[in-house]
Amino acid sequence: MLRSKIAGIGYYVPERVVSNHDLAKVMDTTDEWVQERTGIVERRYVERGKDTTSTLGAKAARIAIERAGITPQDVDFIIFATLSPDYYFPGSGVLLQRQLGIPGIGALDIRNQCSGFVYGLSIADQFVKTGMYKNVLLVGAEVHSIGLDYTTRGRNVTVIFGDGAGAVVIQPTEEDKGILSTHLHADGEHAEHLAYINPGSHGGVHSKTPEQFGYPDQEFGGMFLTDKMLEDEDVYPNMNGKYVFKFAVSRFPEVIMEALKTNGMQPGDINMLVPHQANLRIAQFVQNMLGLSDDQVYNNIHKYGNTTAASIPIALCEAWEAGKIKDGDIVCLAAFGSGFTWGSALIKW
Ligand code: UT7
Repeated sequence: MLRSKIAGIGYYVPERVVSNHDLAKVMDTTDEWVQERTGIVERRYVERGKDTTSTLGAKAARIAIERAGITPQDVDFIIFATLSPDYYFPGSGVLLQRQLGIPGIGALDIRNQCSGFVYGLSIADQFVKTGMYKNVLLVGAEVHSIGLDYTTRGRNVTVIFGDGAGAVVIQPTEEDKGILSTHLHADGEHAEHLAYINPGSHGGVHSKTPEQFGYPDQEFGGMFLTDKMLEDEDVYPNMNGKYVFKFAVSRFPEVIMEALKTNGMQPGDINMLVPHQANLRIAQFVQNMLGLSDDQVYNNIHKYGNTTAASIPIALCEAWEAGKIKDGDIVCLAAFGSGFTWGSALIKW
């Protein structure tokens, strides 16, 4: 049976390094608090006016394309995963396509937040193993730095996120390797617990507590963003951190075990687990629950923070570049985040 494999991988992070100490100059936080609770030491921010989500994505994509031994013209489908697109619409996929100079092929944007890369990989896998496409370019990219609250009010969210991009090229293979299985889940019951709700069409409709999330008094203005939202400065991401943490530490092991079970494997068979880089404490919790050793898990959150849809491909690429992932290795990817959405992929490298 035809399988799909990662034929090329690349990542790009902006040059500007922002440390916890830098953030402590503008909000009430400390390097100690951030490191202790999250493991993050620093993150990267784009230079505003120079880079966007799609330009970061294009930089990562060019590396992945070259490493796959193809040219941009060989790409026959684009999947772009992000929660921080250049525009509300159109999606960043078409902007990436324009930068790569490959008009005409399909470009799909997906909005699955921290699980975006795993969802995208699953979509690419289906297209490739059915023979429909031969070179699917999958990009996960984020620019968080432009949309965060840099006052103390936003500190629980702002200290966590960073900018970056990762990309892979997915090709068919008849060899005994490639993507073994993918597993996708979601539970919209928890949608507002980690969300960036304005601008949006919600008008307070979904909210159980309109005062908290909605705008029941807004007039029919025909705008996603109202003056009241701006006045209230309710235009930033919000997160119920403890609530998210609690679900993350149970869903991660669950979905990893689902992938292993599907393939008749045990945690000991994993050569490298690359978890979404949400919080080092979550990754350590998952590692302990599965009984994995330090060299079976790759973390880089200390350098980049949480880059959402970009975090897995950046970490996967770094691990591969460092020689920590070799041909024939069993690699497990796992993600959990806003939605809630979660998922895993098991790959024979
Ligand atoms: O990738 C998407 C998925 N996201 C996640 O998986 C995130 C999951 N959650 C987390 O990682 C953690 O909940 C956080 C790191 C976000 C927060 O850690 P926590 O231990 O859950 O802290 P908390 O939000 O319960 O806040 C504890 C205290 C509060 O002060 P009081 O009320 O005890 O006085 C916060 O106001 O820490 C305060 N606090 C901060 N203090 C210094 C919150 N953020 C900060 C900060 N610096 N940046």
